[in-house]
Amino acid sequence: MTRVRRIPPGKTIGILGGGQLGRMLAISARQLGYRIGVFTSEVNSPGAQLADEVIVAPYEDLSAVHRFAQRVDVVTFEFENVPASAAKIAQERVPVWPDPTLLFVAQNRIREKSEVQRAGFLVTPFAPIRSVADLEPALKRVGPKAVLKTATAGYDGRGQGIVSSLEAAEEMYAELGYGECILEAFVPFERELSVVVARGQTGELVDYGVFENAHVDHVLDCSVSPPRIEPRVEEQARLLARTVAERLELVGVLCVELFLSPSGEVLFNELAPRPHNSGHLTIEAYSASQFEQQLRAVCGQALGSVHRRAPAAAMVNLMGELWTYDLDGAIVREPDWQSMLKHRACHLHLYGKRTPRLGRKMGHITTLAETPELALQKALAARSALLAAA
Ligand SMILES: Nc1ncnc2c1ncn2[C@@H]1O[C@H](COP(=O)(O)OP(=O)(O)O)[C@@H](O)[C@H]1O
Ligand SMILES: [Mg+2]
Repeated sequence: MTRVRRIPPGKTIGILGGGQLGRMLAISARQLGYRIGVFTSEVNSPGAQLADEVIVAPYEDLSAVHRFAQRVDVVTFEFENVPASAAKIAQERVPVWPDPTLLFVAQNRIREKSEVQRAGFLVTPFAPIRSVADLEPALKRVGPKAVLKTATAGYDGRGQGIVSSLEAAEEMYAELGYGECILEAFVPFERELSVVVARGQTGELVDYGVFENAHVDHVLDCSVSPPRIEPRVEEQARLLARTVAERLELVGVLCVELFLSPSGEVLFNELAPRPHNSGHLTIEAYSASQFEQQLRAVCGQALGSVHRRAPAAAMVNLMGELWTYDLDGAIVREPDWQSMLKHRACHLHLYGKRTPRLGRKMGHITTLAETPELALQKALAARSALLAAA
């Protein structure tokens, strides 16, 4: 059992990464009276806007990471693709949660799928790709329709593509730079699901049940809770998430992404060792959000309650597509915030990103309702209002 390393309010929480997850973590930390330090490679990041201390440097700059660790009392991350060496340097000075060994597993699609398979769960059929010669036998095994993904560093659908022939696979492998890849069977899933779990330093474990997710162009578009699935599927998904969190000795928050296959099987897709886009609805829909749980866990405190505040909730993402651009990419029209805000029961979150771009997550809207259908309807109506005629 890990020795609990308690960090009381008033101390400084260091976050590696400056994106919207770090921003929402910082908002939650401020509410609990913690100070915030952000280490990011990006100037003017969403997280840094809320921080007390900011270091802008590449994650590979180990002396900058060392300086950061001297200014904070604990380090956690909102972005898992930080080099293990950076996490290790920080760990020489302060506690780092989740532990870098978990990071090591979660950073690589082959490692995480192998780990979940070893834990006795079904995963999307896959084959490692380390050279062009691996493609043909792999495609025979998992194909004919498959998804080729970089083993590391992919996110929001980047670094992957669907392939249905050897030629297409070779082309995609070249496009991905011939690095380590994974070829997965294309799953004609019934639904996409996710489970966010939080685990404290004493082993205390909570989850929010299952979220049902829909993606557009491989990027999350909306999430609802509770999901419209059989109790058996829900139990299986939660068991998978909780088992993985325990096996990996998680301290913090972890999300597993799953496919529900047409034959009713729960297949593991990937894991994220941090708060997750599908868990944003926990801010309004549960007593303690996924962000508050991460803080409580990394600070060695008791976890918060996962009591549901409404029968159902929905979250829709706001992408850069909601802005209108001219041919040079300059913004010619902002979303219609005024119309959207007339949807009084909707909760608007914007991440403070200065430059909208196609494919960029700019914010989200959450709604609570009596049923998942109603919640989703309300959230979608509020989002449509953003495109109301000027
Ligand atoms: N093997 C697959 N079969 C069918 N759809 C897939 C598969 N892999 C990924 N996708 C689609 O692409 C989305 C993003 O892929 P994912 O592996 O989760 O990568 P990312 O790290 O970009 O989130 C998934 O949520 C799903 O909609
Ligand atoms: Mg994903």
